This record gives sequence, structure tokens and C-alpha cells, in this order.
Amino acid sequence: APVQAPDLGNCHPPALPDTAPDVDCCLAYRAGTGTVDFELPPASSPLRVRPAAHLVDREYVAKYEEAVALMKKLPDDDPRSLAQQWRVHCAYCDGAFDQVGFPELEIQIHNCWLFYPWHRFFLYFHERILSKLIGDDKFAPPFWNWDAPGGMSLPAIYANTSSPLYDERRNPAHQPPFTVDLSYNGTEQTTPRDQQIDQNLRIMYRQMISSAKKKELFFGQPYHQGDQPDPGAGTIENVPHNPVHFWSGDPRQANGEDMGNFYSAARDPLFFAHHGNVDRMWSVWSGLRPGNAGAGGFTDTDWLDAAFLFYDEEARLVRVRVRDCLDTAALRYAYQDVALPWLDAKP
Ligand code: C2O
Repeated sequence: APVQAPDLGNCHPPALPDTAPDVDCCLAYRAGTGTVDFELPPASSPLRVRPAAHLVDREYVAKYEEAVALMKKLPDDDPRSLAQQWRVHCAYCDGAFDQVGFPELEIQIHNCWLFYPWHRFFLYFHERILSKLIGDDKFAPPFWNWDAPGGMSLPAIYANTSSPLYDERRNPAHQPPFTVDLSYNGTEQTTPRDQQIDQNLRIMYRQMISSAKKKELFFGQPYHQGDQPDPGAGTIENVPHNPVHFWSGDPRQANGEDMGNFYSAARDPLFFAHHGNVDRMWSVWSGLRPGNAGAGGFTDTDWLDAAFLFYDEEARLVRVRVRDCLDTAALRYAYQDVALPWLDAKP
């Protein structure tokens, strides 16, 4: 059977490291809140194009900053606030929810085939909330284009200390223009920039092409209701998704907060740009395999019917299923068309 949407009334304190401050990731629920089933946006709504973060202009940055500032200003218990959103991520990653009917098993949306669809929805609602806050139905947040040389640093718009996009809990040694290491494991490389870029492109080729020929390898392993969590991550989730989290977080914090730990990662606005590119990699991967219906995903109904709950831009609690997120055009968003320099970076 597919993993069912959690019972929000049965949320327990997440399993966090001892050194993490007392964090409650369950705040979002209000007893008696009705749930609506997800519906696609009207086909006539404008297509939002998510831009590469290093290519945006000033006017765009001003708009994005305004939206994030407004989101941060919402009261913490407003389901559309940033405070709520990062807790939602925490709840789905740190064991706050039991699988329905399996009180001894947690819902874990990482390290399995739910990774891409869950994060796609998370970004989808984030985008619509930002957009609603500034009254611009074309607005789309940027993606961190770490798979191309121009994007292989922390995007400068996030590094401006007076911007709402800034987060002080980041690695001070990894500020732009320092080159990102897509397979970062905590050891600082002294590799010159051009070599690091080369290495990164070869990593991308491996994770997107040579090691990702089968669905399970790309998406991650099947995870059904009643299964133990963490059956295995897909190629991109493993690398560079995890290393880039770790590379971004602050080594002076006990648990690499913010980006370097699941519970705190989405406190940093950079999270959404990072996951924009992860989500884009899903679109790119399926685009390289024409003829693969349903975003190249599984035909197993245990994947298609897996369900989650999110709050939307109207603060309604929405039940979504994986099958609802496979067509990004139907979700009315796309990514700026940028080059894929790793395509010819065969090792
Ligand atoms: Cu839900 Cu990048 O982690």
C-alpha cells in the first residue's frame, strides 16, 4: 500500500540531536481543520519561470526580497510563515509522524522514492505563498544552478548581509566567489577553481547519466506503507544534494545548522534555491529520456498514490498525491532554459 498522509493530530516531538535546541516541528496543526484534495491550478494561469539565481536582475531581487521579508514577518503560527514551512520539513524528516496504522514506523521522505515528489510539492506551495504575498501570480523563486560553472558558488543574492535572503548560520569560508565542491565531505579542498569545476561537471555526468540509468537509481528505492524508512537514496539525493547541504551549513554550530541538518535546513532561504535545482534535475533527467511517461517515474500505484499534507497560499490544508506533481506544465511552472555543460563531461 502507498504511504498515506500523516495524522497531524498525532505528531510527536521529532528525534533531534541532543545538542539541537528544543524544537517543536508539529506547530502547524489546528484541530478541526478540514482537508481539501489537491487540484491543479487553472490551465489558463500564467506559466511561472524559475530563474537561475546568479542570472537575475535587480528588479527581480527586490521583488523576491520583498516576498521573503513578508513571509518572515507572518506570525509564527500562520501556516504560510517561513517558521511553519521549515517545521513542516523538519516534521517529515525527523520522525514527527507515524505511518498510518504503524505506530512503530516513522514517515521519512528522504532516502527513498518519495524524495523528489515531496520536495516538488514543498517548493510548489512555497512559490505560491511568496507569489500571493506580493500579489504577483507570475512570480517564481530562483534555483541555485550548481551544475553549471556560473552557478558553482553560493549565489551572491543570498550573501548580502542586509537582505532577508541572508542567514548567518552558514559556513563563513564558503562565501562567494568560493567554489562549491559538489561532493563535499567536510574536508576543505585546495583544488584550483577550474579543476574543481571540472570535477563537479564529471560528478554531474555520473549522477545524471552513467549511474542513473534505472528509475530506482535516480529516484531512490521503493518505500511502501509498513516499510522501514530509508531504503536508499537516488543518485542526486546522495550527491550533490547532501554534500551541498553540508557545504552550506555553519560548522560553528553544533549540528551544521541551518543547511547542514534536516531539522533546520529550511530555515535558510537558500534551501529553496538548492531544492529548485534538485527539482530541475528531475525535469532534466526525464527530458533526456523521451518516451518515459509520468516524468520518468514509477507506474507502481504505491508511488503514484503516496500522499502528503501541505498548507497552501490560502492556509488551507491540502492532501496531495505523487501522481499530481508529475507534469510541471500542469503545475504551471518551468525552469529558465540554461546550458547543461556536464552533458559532455564523461569521466
Ligand atoms: Cu528535505 Cu534537502 O532536504
